[in-house]
Amino acid sequence: MALLAGKTAIITGASSGIGAAAAVVFAGHGANVVLADVNADAGAEVAQLVQDGGGQALFVATDVTREAEVAALVRAAVARFGRVDCAFNNAGIDGPVAGLEEHTEENWDLVLGVNLKGVALCMKHEVRQMLAQGGGGAIVNTASVVALMAVDAGIAPYVASKHAVVGLTHTAALEYATRGIRVNAICPGGVRTPLAEHVQQQGAGTDELALAMIPMRRLAEPREIAEPAAWLCSDAASYVTGSTFTVDGGMTTGHPTPLRVPVPEPRS
Ligand SMILES: NC(=O)c1ccc[n+]([C@@H]2O[C@H](COP(=O)([O-])OP(=O)(O)OC[C@H]3O[C@@H](n4cnc5c(N)ncnc54)[C@H](O)[C@@H]3O)[C@@H](O)[C@H]2O)c1
Repeated sequence: MALLAGKTAIITGASSGIGAAAAVVFAGHGANVVLADVNADAGAEVAQLVQDGGGQALFVATDVTREAEVAALVRAAVARFGRVDCAFNNAGIDGPVAGLEEHTEENWDLVLGVNLKGVALCMKHEVRQMLAQGGGGAIVNTASVVALMAVDAGIAPYVASKHAVVGLTHTAALEYATRGIRVNAICPGGVRTPLAEHVQQQGAGTDELALAMIPMRRLAEPREIAEPAAWLCSDAASYVTGSTFTVDGGMTTGHPTPLRVPVPEPRS
């Protein structure tokens, strides 16, 4: 049987990058997908792509920073498919690049608004629905490798927001562990998406630098993050909760760059 057969999955940030890939991957595994994003035109195209492939998709224009819109998203999912079994809370932004001493209050509100409050609001309404159904569920929140280690790239609000997503995920995993709802964070490394391009365009790192940090020496394709997210949402991951699931080409296993520093001559 398909990994997600008969399940309904909400996917946020579904108009682009990892979320768009997840729409296709989750549907390919048999899920009905409910796609959410602020970018309505691209979202409708992704929904059409899923339907053209024989899947069931509904796009709901949603700003995850607005609770009323998140609540309406969950209601729309239930109205169309009857229930919500899993959710991939993936919408996120990188935000402006600046030194910590230069970041404005607006930068902090912007990035934490989408990356932290957005995930919290989505979880709130998804969990309510899952509890009301009485049948459990699975939630995957997109964090990042920078949730586990800091980078010196002028993106302090982003790094802090992703650390916070892990804290939120751990808290929710504990709160719902005995009520059948599993909550995990997925921590991608470098992924070939518009967000990663935008970070680089702002001068925070280069392809060369990123590749030097990745033992596999390549960025991930969005599908390579979407597949493990689908698995975490599935019953195959029935004992996995509260994890920070790295999908990073080995990035957090060590620091390959220093290993290339020549070993000093032994002292005589
Ligand atoms: N690309 C990477 O290298 C990388 C690495 C680690 C983590 N991530 C995380 O992966 C997630 C997806 O990013 P991506 O790389 O696919 O980027 P992306 O820019 O391709 O996609 C992000 C999507 O989120 C949507 N979005 C932004 N603000 C929103 C809001 N308020 N409400 C609803 N939707 C909103 C955007 O419209 C966009 O479609 C993000 O949480 C990001 O932080 C990305």
